[in-house]
Amino acid sequence: MNIMVVGGGGREHVIIKKIKENPSVENIYALPGNGGIAADATCIPVAATDIDGICTFAKDHPIDYAVVAQDDPLALGCVDRLAELGIPSFGPCADAALIESSKVFAKDLMKKYNIPTAQYEVFTDINEALKYLDNAPIPTVVKADGLALGKGVVIAATREEAKEAVRQMMSEHKFGASGDRIVIEEFLTGPEVSVLSFTDGKTLIPMVSSMDHKRAGDGDTGLNTGGMGTVAPNPYYTDEIAARCMKEIFLPTMEAMNKEGRTFKGCLYFGLMITQDGPKVIEYNCRFGDPEAQVVLPLLQSDLLTIMQAVTEERLDEVPVVFENGYACCVVMASEGYPVSYGKGYEIHIAPEVSDTTYVAGAALDNGKLVTSGGRVLGVTATADSLADAIDAAYRKVDQIHFDHAYFRHDIGQRALKA
Ligand code: AMP
Ligand code: GLY
Repeated sequence: MNIMVVGGGGREHVIIKKIKENPSVENIYALPGNGGIAADATCIPVAATDIDGICTFAKDHPIDYAVVAQDDPLALGCVDRLAELGIPSFGPCADAALIESSKVFAKDLMKKYNIPTAQYEVFTDINEALKYLDNAPIPTVVKADGLALGKGVVIAATREEAKEAVRQMMSEHKFGASGDRIVIEEFLTGPEVSVLSFTDGKTLIPMVSSMDHKRAGDGDTGLNTGGMGTVAPNPYYTDEIAARCMKEIFLPTMEAMNKEGRTFKGCLYFGLMITQDGPKVIEYNCRFGDPEAQVVLPLLQSDLLTIMQAVTEERLDEVPVVFENGYACCVVMASEGYPVSYGKGYEIHIAPEVSDTTYVAGAALDNGKLVTSGGRVLGVTATADSLADAIDAAYRKVDQIHFDHAYFRHDIGQRALKA
């Protein structure tokens, strides 16, 4: 089989490595892929947002199955367009991807179907939003409606900060049209848990839970990032919480999407907060999390491609989805200065013993040498029988990788260990 994977980060790298385990796979094309993915797939220089380019490539090559791994091509209807060409894919259609690409849609869906989430108000008029903030409970959370590269959420500790966020989104258009509508919502507290699931609209199978580390610095300090590391499973996700999530959140969400005529097929990601009043949804994503995928998929024992195809063909109930009982830890190695400004082009040396479990996020090939090309450069994953051993092993692997100005957090998994 010939497989096409749309995207070019660490998440796409781990997906490609897992898909390669299926013996019927002959070729994998990554659009655009990256310098590290090039060791496992044929990289094609077509941007993940260039839907016409992706379709042209897919028409000209014998593609049997596609995996659309990144949020923006999903929102742009990549899966719908490939279906018109007769190419089956993993990932939701655009009308279902709206669950991530519009926060207003997601919030209204939860309200309509009684799915637990933070209280909220929606604004399209800046003056009304500012007036509301005069009396809103503080801290509060301001969110741009649309996709904003994970940066469209502001936790405001004061009224003035909240108003400033509103002005930036609605009048300075910091996130373009994504900020024309905003959500202002209740600030929730409690441990956060990420749960990815496979669903075909009839069956929903949660994967092993995970914990992201979003802040740039040790001890959860510094700026928000795309994610500096992950562990799985998440110790806060007890069997009791898992059972409540299935009943109160996961299945109701799948059914709500069906009732809205927006059946979701693919990986539905639940960003949860375990509050005093039980688990609540912080956000939905319409795809695997990055770097959650880099700990969840290495623990998957069953064949990923078989599961994905079963999702597309709406027979997920017929295939095994089994995870190891072990633990995984992924440490992200970034370029110093990330997420603000950082240099590029530093040569990367990865010891051969650790390359199998190193997922390349931002690197390019320069005359055959792997060099950094992004802020997040690598995700280094280890699995073990205990969380402590997985963390130790991941950091020992990090010691075997070198590039100038490498930066990583030293405490990935420590909060989970103490839980
Ligand atoms: P998101 O971009 O929706 O993932 O939000 C980024 C982060 O903001 C989340 O991972 C949470 O840590 C935080 N966050 C979002 N919404 C809330 C909320 N209502 N209360 C507290 N924290 C929140
Ligand atoms: N790690 C969070 C995300 O993928 O959105």
